[in-house]
Amino acid sequence: MKLPVAELHIHLEGTLEPETILRLAEQNEITLPWPSLEHLREQYDFSNLQSFLDLFYTNLAVLRTRDDFHEITLAYLRRADASGVRHVELFFDPQAHLERGIELGEVIGGIRAGLKEGEERFGITHKLIACFWRHAPATSALEILRTLVAEGHDIDGIGLDSSELGYPPVLFQDVFAFARENGLHVVAHAGEEGPPEYIVQALDLLKVERIDHGIRCLEDEALVRRLVTEQMPLTVCPLSNVRLRTVDTLADHPLKRMLEKGLKVSIHSDDPAYFGGYIDANFEAVDRELGLTPGERATLARNSIESSFLEEPAKKRLTAEVDAWLHAAGRDS
Ligand code: HPA
Ligand code: ZN
Repeated sequence: MKLPVAELHIHLEGTLEPETILRLAEQNEITLPWPSLEHLREQYDFSNLQSFLDLFYTNLAVLRTRDDFHEITLAYLRRADASGVRHVELFFDPQAHLERGIELGEVIGGIRAGLKEGEERFGITHKLIACFWRHAPATSALEILRTLVAEGHDIDGIGLDSSELGYPPVLFQDVFAFARENGLHVVAHAGEEGPPEYIVQALDLLKVERIDHGIRCLEDEALVRRLVTEQMPLTVCPLSNVRLRTVDTLADHPLKRMLEKGLKVSIHSDDPAYFGGYIDANFEAVDRELGLTPGERATLARNSIESSFLEEPAKKRLTAEVDAWLHAAGRDS
């Protein structure tokens, strides 16, 4: 039995596998700068967040139609099912598609159709979170968010992603206030490459319910104490941190230290097609390098479920699945 988990930090566009990128490029008559799979694969050596984002934004240009979004969402859920995911809160970047002239209804309609089909086939429940680019003006984010709300597009929350350094959360205060006023959940990437101060701003000014990444909180003891007291969820992505060089090697990854400090951390995959694996691969890599007891795995899985935006009865049902997994793990060992 796979460990049952909630995937809370995954960018849909980051699930585009190289083969899919080239197939969709051909199908949609998009010319990419890489003539072959081999050339494309050579691009996957990143020096920092920006070097990854440059490739990520170039490749997502192959997505054109509602069917493309439907297909890649379903493909992700098939892979997620095989890795133990029972619930997903999926990120997408509306600005990345709007700036290429693709309508919000096509993007969200396609993703929602994929999520619905995935739930029917695999029983994976879902939420959908629109992430705004911090490298674009907050006025752009606010305008798009107003449209999403006014036109009644089906999203459950908003997030904040893309280049972090130089774009502090304070810039997006009005966007997040508007989202909260309209009953949307709010999360933000903070403390991936950016300083602990960005995490503090995300908490105090954006009033987020979760911090995505957050690993640089360890540089500020008072902040760690606060995050522990508030049991603020931190969605940590170990393979991403190594591939984007925010951590030197997995053996140096602070995940276990964060757990030991009582932080509410969970493991996620970020952009699995770019960083070497889905949520199960992240668990396996951490286990290999840092060692995880069955009890620690179960804690990480329970944290993911408790940190989700599911209602209490659904959280209880999934947590019971984790308890059953732990019981079976104890019996097998
Ligand atoms: N960090 C910030 N923005 C992103 C990422 C990430 O890992 N993936 C897609 N957008
Ligand atoms: Zn991310």
